[in-house]
Amino acid sequence: MTTGNPESLSEVDQQRLLEWFDGSSRNLPWRANPTPYRVWISEVMLQQTTVAACIPYFEKWMEAFPTVESLALADMKRVLVAWQGLGYYRRARNLHKAAQIINTQGWPPSLEGWKAMPGIGNYTAGAIASIALKLPTPTVDGNIKRVYARLTADQSSFSQLDKRAWKWAAKNLVSSRAGDWNQALMELGATLCRPLAPKCEACPLKSCCLAHRLGIVEQVPEKPVRKRAVELHLAAIVYWRVHHEELEIGLIQAEQSNWWEGMTIFPTQQLDQSLDQTEKPNAIGRVTHTVTHHKITFAVCLEQVHGKMSGVNFVRASALSELPMPSAHQKIWKLASKKLLDL
Ligand code: ADE
Repeated sequence: MTTGNPESLSEVDQQRLLEWFDGSSRNLPWRANPTPYRVWISEVMLQQTTVAACIPYFEKWMEAFPTVESLALADMKRVLVAWQGLGYYRRARNLHKAAQIINTQGWPPSLEGWKAMPGIGNYTAGAIASIALKLPTPTVDGNIKRVYARLTADQSSFSQLDKRAWKWAAKNLVSSRAGDWNQALMELGATLCRPLAPKCEACPLKSCCLAHRLGIVEQVPEKPVRKRAVELHLAAIVYWRVHHEELEIGLIQAEQSNWWEGMTIFPTQQLDQSLDQTEKPNAIGRVTHTVTHHKITFAVCLEQVHGKMSGVNFVRASALSELPMPSAHQKIWKLASKKLLDL
C-alpha cells in the first residue's frame, strides 16, 4: 500500500484521480459541450442544488435562453420563471445583469475578468476559468473542502478551513487538465467522499488519505455551528374575486427589501406569534417554509373582494403558473386554490 503525502499529492495519485474521473464521471449535459455560457449557467445553478436536480433546470434554461444574447435581452420576469424553484433569486438577477455586460463587452477572457462579473465569487470564477477557458486556475467548493480536509486530516475550524483548502488546491492543481482536475475533486466529494457514509473502499485516493488511515473520516471536517433559525409568523392574504365569471387572485410584487424582490407574491402581514392565527375566521391553514436562516410560518387567509384594491393586481387564477412565484408562495397557492375550488 502506498502512502503518499496528501499535502502535496504525487503525480501517481493525481493520475489515479484523473483516471477515475475519466472512467466514472457522470454524463452531464454541460460537460458534453463546455462553452463559457453553459459552464457559467451550470456552475451558478449547482450552487443552489444537486447535480441530479440541476439537470432539468439546465435543459429548460438552455431552451428558453440558448445564448448569452437571448438572456441579456430577455424580460426579467421570464428569467425569474426559469429560475423558479431553485431559490435565492438574486443569483438569477445577477445572471441577467452579467449577460447584459457580456453582450456588450464580450466574454471575460480571464479569471479576474470573471471575478468582476456580478454574482461571481472565487469558486465560480475558478470553475469557469478552468473548465471553459482551460486556464490553470484552482477552485474550492464545499466538496473540495471536504476532500482536502479528509486527505490531510485537517481538523481546523470551519472558518479556517477555507483558506487552507485554497492553498492546497493551488499547490496540487494539475495545470494541464485544470478543469478536469477540479471537477474530479468535486465529483469525488459528491459521489464517494460524501459527508455521511463515505465510500472509502472505492476511492482512488484512499492510499494517501490521512483521515482514512487514522479512522476519522466521518469526523473530518469539523461541522460548522449552525445558527438557530429565526422564526417568523406571517399572515398571507389570498384576496379573490369573480370578475367576468373568472376567478381572479390578488397579487403584489415583492419589494426590494424582500427575499423575493421583483417576484409575484401574496400580500403578507407580520403577526404577533403568541396568537394562534389559524383561529382567525378566514384562516384556512398554515404553510411553513425555510429561507436562509428563517423559518416562516404563514397563516393562509382567504378574503373575498368586490371591485379593486389599491396596490394589488388581480390576475386570472389560470394564469398564475406563468408568473415568477417563489416556492413558499406556490405552497400558499396550492392550499388556497384547493379551498377556493371547493367554495
Ligand atoms: N458541482 C459543482 N460544479 C460541479 C462540476 N462541474 N462537476 C461536478 N460537481 C460539481
